[in-house]
Amino acid sequence: MKVLVATEKPFAKVAVDGIRKEIEAAGFELALLEKYTDKAQLLDAVKDANAIIIRSDIIDAEVLDAAKELKIVVRAGAGYDNVDLAAATAHNVCVMNTPGQNANAVAELALGMMVYAVRNFYNGTSGTELMGKKLGIHAYGNVGRNVARIAKGFGMEVYAFDAFCPKEVIEKDGVKALDSAEELYKTCQVVSLHIPATAETKNSINYALLKDMPKGAMLVNTARKEVINEAELIKLMEDRADFKYITDIMPAANAEFAEKFAGRYFSTPKKMGAQTAEANINAGIAAAQQIVGFLKDGCEKFRVNK
Ligand code: 3PG
Repeated sequence: MKVLVATEKPFAKVAVDGIRKEIEAAGFELALLEKYTDKAQLLDAVKDANAIIIRSDIIDAEVLDAAKELKIVVRAGAGYDNVDLAAATAHNVCVMNTPGQNANAVAELALGMMVYAVRNFYNGTSGTELMGKKLGIHAYGNVGRNVARIAKGFGMEVYAFDAFCPKEVIEKDGVKALDSAEELYKTCQVVSLHIPATAETKNSINYALLKDMPKGAMLVNTARKEVINEAELIKLMEDRADFKYITDIMPAANAEFAEKFAGRYFSTPKKMGAQTAEANINAGIAAAQQIVGFLKDGCEKFRVNK
């Protein structure tokens, strides 16, 4: 059995070593395609792969057509919007993710970006503090929970809204659960986004939702750029000189944001929420173990294309 690790944005070496150990201990072979720049390289590498470990790499119908021997794709991470699930099901390929494995890394980055922003991007001027600010966590999954835990350490007042998580679960963590996204944005000066990119959430963070955020508002995005209605966010930031947008996923309109909103806009050059050795080890090794469990014992835990 051949397991391909196809990562345009590679794992830390220590994680690749750990993945190799798991794969070889199961008697399988590991192949690596890292930092590829062209889809043709991926199409070629998948030809004889029985299993693939990916990150944000795109697995679409064309890749699945080329991967004649493929049985399973594991997205080492949480969001699987980069995999065409319907095409995978049609090709009889199991798709899994590794929920929670990189959540702390993303949460730490979200708080780090908040500090960076309230301290005026470390430009030497006087900023403000996170303590006492109201933080809204939009979606209370694995990352949201970690953001809440860390934010409480900073002395923030933490609120959350999650359409799918019962209020009691949120409130058990000492977080105030609100009834709607509208209420969350109206209440909180800082909102941290943790919703997945789905047909329902795409473009859902729009002018109407953001306009009522309290004075000195800041939106922090370590989720997906697709959930933002960029044109409406630009309009809002034109209308509100107090609004900051801080993101780990560079918007399509990055140049326009950077030019128009200097001092209140920041984007990392490449999504780096999950770029830690720990997250790479956790998610990479979990992916390898899930592949071994599936190929050897038919275990389908964490399958997302049921
Ligand atoms: C995820 O969905 O797990 C995160 O967005 C991390 O993605 P990455 O592995 O591409 O950095």
